[in-house]
Amino acid sequence: MAKIIVNGGKELSGTIKISGSKNAALPIMTASLLTDGDLELSNVPHLSDVTIMRELLQSLGTKISLNKNPSSLRLSTKSINNYTADYEIVRKMRASIIVLGPILARNKIARVALPGGCSIGSRPIDLHLKGMQAMGAKIYMEGGYVFGEAANGLHGAEIKFPIVSVGATQNIVLAATLADGTTTISNAAREPEIVDLCRCLQKMGANIRGAGTGIITIKGVSKLNGSCHSVMADRIELGTFILAPALTGGEIFLKGENLKGVSYFQDRIIDMGLNVSENKYGIRVQKGDKKLKNIDISTEPFPGFPTDLQPQLMVALGLADGKSTIIEGIFENRFMHAPELNRMGANIQINGKKAIITGVPEYRGVPVLASDLRAAASLVLAGLAAKGKTIIEGVHHLDRGYEQMEEKLALCGADIYRSSDD
Ligand code: EPZ
Repeated sequence: MAKIIVNGGKELSGTIKISGSKNAALPIMTASLLTDGDLELSNVPHLSDVTIMRELLQSLGTKISLNKNPSSLRLSTKSINNYTADYEIVRKMRASIIVLGPILARNKIARVALPGGCSIGSRPIDLHLKGMQAMGAKIYMEGGYVFGEAANGLHGAEIKFPIVSVGATQNIVLAATLADGTTTISNAAREPEIVDLCRCLQKMGANIRGAGTGIITIKGVSKLNGSCHSVMADRIELGTFILAPALTGGEIFLKGENLKGVSYFQDRIIDMGLNVSENKYGIRVQKGDKKLKNIDISTEPFPGFPTDLQPQLMVALGLADGKSTIIEGIFENRFMHAPELNRMGANIQINGKKAIITGVPEYRGVPVLASDLRAAASLVLAGLAAKGKTIIEGVHHLDRGYEQMEEKLALCGADIYRSSDD
């Protein structure tokens, strides 16, 4: 199994190009199921989750051609000739559930394997299914699969989510674009990735208002057309790299178009004592000469502090002055990186949804095991700061959401490389 080796303590200096957003690219790719036209996407990141989504869409009948530019795809679904999202593919990526809405909208019948839970939580899909039922689909489970049937097509509905769900908002928006009538989603997710998906759908001819607010209104149209769209920059990759100089000292420039979406996060790390400046080409980050200050945060739906940056922030707070607290308000089990960080010398106590982090002078490099995508990223960050060698196993988690992470850091002076046993 591949490992990442980090010999820590090197100051970072240089430029890092931020890749396209995984969490925008995945739902945008499923929009190709809604039209028989060609959807041309650019700035698509090279990630294992994107590869799995390509495999899933191809299994449903989508033709995908890779242009000479590796981050561009052309997706074309003349017809959905297989309405089953097979367990063998879905089990590899739980976000596959967002093909349910598009298949139902285009094909009137869909069968999607129930995604498993994952290490950060049970990840139910009840809100996705209730939304489809409100739009007239008959939903039932059989043999580990969700069946959706809407023989007369989907119709508009008033959908009020009891809690904010990014995936359920995406699924319903996608399905509602071709429904008969108007769908209103209240307590909709407001993440920038939702806005990017709606921008792409509007280019295809969808009639959507309110993206980025808590109320999204979709007026169904009879047909969507092909279009072209450049995927937004990955704000979680950006936030991850913003924290790197906080841990190593030095200064890095994060290059990418329209690097919005982490403003709340930026404000908090400025509270910690990082110097952050922004121009139209990107964001410059440098660590001041003072120790990082402790802060308290709770993870919340956008525009609150993003749960996907919680493990990474915990690494920085572990070396800050004094005590900090993190409340994980989104997922029920997203502190598995804490025991690994404690093995590196951190002082983190977990009490249910609350983590109490007492700053220590330094981390020590030891072998650690990543349990999920953002935990893996947090262990890389901790390795950059640690004295000595950190050996990170579970690297496949990292490859789900970070494009060439170790190469990008090595170009800025980090002593980091990937080794495989074979
Ligand atoms: C998306 O997951 C992201 N994944 C996650 O990023 C991110 O952490 C999450 O949104 C929150 O921002 C993708 O976009 C592919 P949710 P999603 O539905 O849509 C509960 C990463 O690291 N819920 O907003 O699955 C759920 O259990 C990943 O890139 C229900 O109860 O998240 C959770 O507690 C990790 N019923 C809360 O809502 C449902 O039907 C938020 O989940 C759906 C969700």
